[in-house]
Amino acid sequence: MPERPDRTRPVTLSEASLAVHGGIHVDSTLALRTPLVMANSYQLPDDPSEISWSATAPGLYTRNTGVNQQALQEKLAALDGGEDAVALASGVAALHAVFFTHVRVGDHVVVSDITYEATWRLWSELLPQRYGIEATFVDITDHEAVRAAMRANTRLVCVEAIANPTTQVTDVAAIAAIAHEHGALLMVDSTYTPPPVYRPLRDGADLVVHSLTKYINGHGDAMGGAVIGRHELIEPIKADAMVDVGGIISPFNAWQIQRGSVTLPLRMRQHLASAQAIAEFLEADPRVAYIYYPGLPSHPQHELATRQFPHGSGGMMAFAVDGGPSVQNRFVANLRLITSGFSLGHDDSLIVHTGTEGGRVAAYPEPFRRMGHLRLSVGLEDTADLLADLQGALDETFA
Ligand SMILES: Cc1ncc(COP(=O)(O)O)c(C=O)c1O
Repeated sequence: MPERPDRTRPVTLSEASLAVHGGIHVDSTLALRTPLVMANSYQLPDDPSEISWSATAPGLYTRNTGVNQQALQEKLAALDGGEDAVALASGVAALHAVFFTHVRVGDHVVVSDITYEATWRLWSELLPQRYGIEATFVDITDHEAVRAAMRANTRLVCVEAIANPTTQVTDVAAIAAIAHEHGALLMVDSTYTPPPVYRPLRDGADLVVHSLTKYINGHGDAMGGAVIGRHELIEPIKADAMVDVGGIISPFNAWQIQRGSVTLPLRMRQHLASAQAIAEFLEADPRVAYIYYPGLPSHPQHELATRQFPHGSGGMMAFAVDGGPSVQNRFVANLRLITSGFSLGHDDSLIVHTGTEGGRVAAYPEPFRRMGHLRLSVGLEDTADLLADLQGALDETFA
């Protein structure tokens, strides 16, 4: 095979270019895509005595990092503007990896009282009960309450940029300042707001978590999670939670997510535009009892959202139609294009009806507590088709 030139890419690239080229290095195969390497083990030198079994780089054993995981990590670090990234088996594995690595017995954490179910359960039950780590849940929009919750042993503050499911928005710069005044780290779960919608590290977050399962893969066919931040914070996660606990992402999923993420900036533009149009449509319909979408002026943190997310307020919203649980279910059943399904951030629009049961519901805004909610993940279908589907389901439900 002829020799090929060694091309170094320009140093500063926009996110659209990083999404295409990040993490791709032409290797000895000369393939223009990072080849899928399913091997779980790599050839060692004749004398392996100098090699650490706890190393966190490719070339040893796939639990210590494989080729495809490394390529994905490089891209994720570049997209979020972080020094380093670790890719793990799921979003929840990534959250647990942060908690397991950076919080110890005797530490205290401050957690937003509105978060994804597993984060809430980890901090309300599992970690306090099993490891005796204390957690205080606070209204993260009340900065005096956050300040008052901080203690001398507070190690971590844990928030979501836009919270699942109520769409509450965290003022990341303000919370970072409070955390840092008290010597704590700020972790932001930015699953609802992947780059280029938001980069929490720029506003002072120390660690960013993504469920890669959602927008970053974007096609609903792989699970993964990631943590991005300074090398000194990510390296211990790799050494402890990845190598020794084993929450590793599979090479195939890393390859699949790397491929899906190529179109992330393009896809997000469509998610944002359709979500804004749909939120405005739903708000204008008197059969919709309430709607929460940060891009609507009626949202409690609309001003913050427009400042923090200048491109748009994400693709997720929560609302209810007028009536009890059976009416919400009938509305979902009457949808023809939007599918009832748990996940979010996929190419197809997904909706899920959640009732008023469960411990974390107590912190939700009043209409959520009274009526339950429909969580809508606006997909990549044509905006007009989505609007027609919602209109049709409303007409059928209230005929
Ligand atoms: C905000 C948020 N964080 C974390 C997760 C967990 O991600 P995964 O399902 O990939 O474990 C989810 C899942 O819905 C989520 O919405």
